[in-house]
Formats: sequence, structure tokens, C-alpha cells
Amino acid sequence: MARLLKFNIFRYNPQNSESTPHMDEFVLEETDSMTLFIALNRIREEKDSSLQFDFCCRAGICGSCGMVINGRPGLACHTKTKDLPSEITLLPLPVFQLVGDLSVDTGSWFREMYNKVESWIHTNKEFDPSAEEERMENEVAESIYELDRCVECGCCVSACGTARLRDDFLGAVSLNRVARFVIDPRDQRTDKEYYEIIGNDEGIFGCMGLLACEDVCPKHLPLQDQLAFLRRKMGITAIKSLFSCKSCK
Ligand code: SF4
Ligand code: SF4
Ligand code: FES
Repeated sequence: MARLLKFNIFRYNPQNSESTPHMDEFVLEETDSMTLFIALNRIREEKDSSLQFDFCCRAGICGSCGMVINGRPGLACHTKTKDLPSEITLLPLPVFQLVGDLSVDTGSWFREMYNKVESWIHTNKEFDPSAEEERMENEVAESIYELDRCVECGCCVSACGTARLRDDFLGAVSLNRVARFVIDPRDQRTDKEYYEIIGNDEGIFGCMGLLACEDVCPKHLPLQDQLAFLRRKMGITAIKSLFSCKSCK
């Protein structure tokens, strides 16, 4: 006989002054290959049409279905109920602004942080539409592609102790984004210019290095390596600028 799954789901609509934060319980019979995406849709269709949650691709690509699943941030469309106990608690991702129930606004957070790190190629070269595409070593292109696999789900940010303590912290995802431009030969920014952006407590020096971010990343991005790479690079930049200042005197 199929298992009966008990879902405890956070409910709160901040737009409604009469709404108060609470948990609602729903029971469903488990079906073959059931994911949390399927379960939540069934709850919405069969039990409570007001339940709010986000989904788009159902394939781990759009990053919109991040939520806290039994205490751990993850993608609901990628989580099979067979891998969970029969009691499942779902909460919205912390750090991001709550839209309602399990739905949060990750878009505004990402826009703000990506603006802060100036998440675009900085070059003095004029764009020439008739020129041939610039060549790049395969190895370099692959390293950039590896870091570009981020789906901006926000799970790493929600798992991060520093991001929970200070809302100006860039988080592993934005630091990974910076690392992506550092290794891109088309970006002409100097280490000193990167230091201006991430050489502080909002950036790489605010990171406590406990790596919850990498633990929960559903795309298995090498966040640990990128954080270590930037910490080393920014540390060296700080020491160099210290010595160059002393020699100026
Ligand atoms: S290693 Fe740094 S970025 Fe990752 S969760 Fe810890 S404090 Fe946050
Ligand atoms: S780095 Fe991983 S956990 Fe963080 S937003 Fe990107 S895909 Fe999600
Ligand atoms: S619905 Fe797109 S990642 Fe889950």
C-alpha cells in the first residue's frame, strides 16, 4: 500500500492584514515518482486553491521552486518524495522577501546584488558587428561555462549564515558571478577594481567559509573553490597595495 504523506506547509499572506503566519497540514497518498512539484500541485488542485508557490520549468532549470524542505534549502521539482520521510515540512526560503506561503521574490535580490558586482563584461573595445567572433581557449570557455550553470535559485543564500545576519552580504552566488568575470579574458577589470567591490565584509571577507552554500547547491557548482580563489586573490591584492603605499612614502 502506498504511503500517506503528511505535509506541514507554512502559510502567510503579507498582503492581507488578517493573515497570520501559521502551518497548515495536508495529507496525500504517495504515487510513483512523485516529486514535491506534483504533490504541491495536487494539494492546490484538490485541497486548497489559495496555496502559493513558484514553478516554471519543472526540470531544475529556471530556479524558481527553491524552498526549505525538511530544514534544507532545495529545488522542489527535483525532490522526489520517496527520498523523504512521510512527514514533510515546507517553508519559504529565508533572506528573500516573502510574496506569500512558499513563494519568495528572489528576482529583486539578484538584481540588486548583480548590480553591486557589476555583472557584465567591462571592456574598452568598441563593438564591431562585422568583426569575426573573438577566439577563446576551449579550456577557458569551459571554466566560464561551468560557473555560468547557476540557475539563481537562491538556495545557497538561504543556507548562508552571513546572509542571514547581514542583508548586504553578496552571498556565494554573487561571488561565484565575480569569479566568472575574473577568469573571462574579455573582462579588463584589474584586481584592484575587483577589490573595490568585494574586498570587504559585504564581499569575500564576510564569508565564514563553512560552505553550507556548496552543500545545498542543486547544480553542484564548485562554490568552495571560487570562494577560496577570490579570498586568496583579494588577500594578495590587499598586501600588494599595502606595500606599494609604503614604498610611495
Ligand atoms: S561559505 Fe561563505 S558564502 Fe558559503 S554559506 Fe558559508 S558564509 Fe555563506
Ligand atoms: S550557486 Fe547553486 S544554490 Fe546558489 S543560486 Fe546558483 S544554482 Fe542556486
Ligand atoms: S520549476 Fe524550474 S527549477 Fe524547479
